[in-house]
Amino acid sequence: MSKGLVLVVVFTLFSFVLPAFTAATEPSSNVTILVAYHSATGHTEKMAQGVVDGAKGVKGTVVVMKRVGQVTEQDLFSADAVVVGSPVYWSNMAGEVKSFFDNWQLKFGVFPEFKMRGKVGAAFVTGGQVAGGKEVTLLTILAAMLGNQMIVVSGGGAFGASATTEGESPGIDSKELAGARDLGKRVAEVAWIVKRGSAK
Ligand SMILES: Cc1cc2nc3c(=O)[nH]c(=O)nc-3n(C[C@H](O)[C@H](O)[C@H](O)COP(=O)(O)O)c2cc1C
Repeated sequence: MSKGLVLVVVFTLFSFVLPAFTAATEPSSNVTILVAYHSATGHTEKMAQGVVDGAKGVKGTVVVMKRVGQVTEQDLFSADAVVVGSPVYWSNMAGEVKSFFDNWQLKFGVFPEFKMRGKVGAAFVTGGQVAGGKEVTLLTILAAMLGNQMIVVSGGGAFGASATTEGESPGIDSKELAGARDLGKRVAEVAWIVKRGSAK
């Protein structure tokens, strides 16, 4: 084979064949995370922004932040991970957040195919009191995700990120915000692990 022909073959290989092969074997270059929340007085929204910032710090991660009522079928099903935030209402998630989960079936029809199966899920909450039901609320959110066969992770705290917003600890302090960022980062990292390891 002449030198010229060898060069043409090598050039063709590097220009066309290898990139096409790589594209076919690698998953898409982004991970998409949906951060869905309810907030009446702004505290949970602040935590949502922290989760967004943490997730965005992981290269190649696209984040969509929306109030639960604004989430579309496309938002939900195109996300690789869903992080749900709620204020604590009577030691549980707010009605708006419960309706959001109910609508996964009533509006979007996730069952019986388990359309959310294999997506990463996580939770964050804010509550007025130190011991007013934050962990119960986190767990009820995670329970809804587990029922949908999602891959549930924590971060920030044992069951997710949380903040106390009233009494001696008004608003969201820097440590609580750091917990929210930690959660967002972890969700993005795990979503990448799941995506890279996907058989799809
Ligand atoms: C109807 C209602 C019920 C609440 N119940 C609780 C509760 O059980 N435990 C608690 O710690 N805080 C409770 N709170 C306080 C809120 O969880 C807290 O103010 C929260 O940070 C509000 O979040 P937001 O600013 O995002 O709306 C309640 C507030 C409302 C309006």
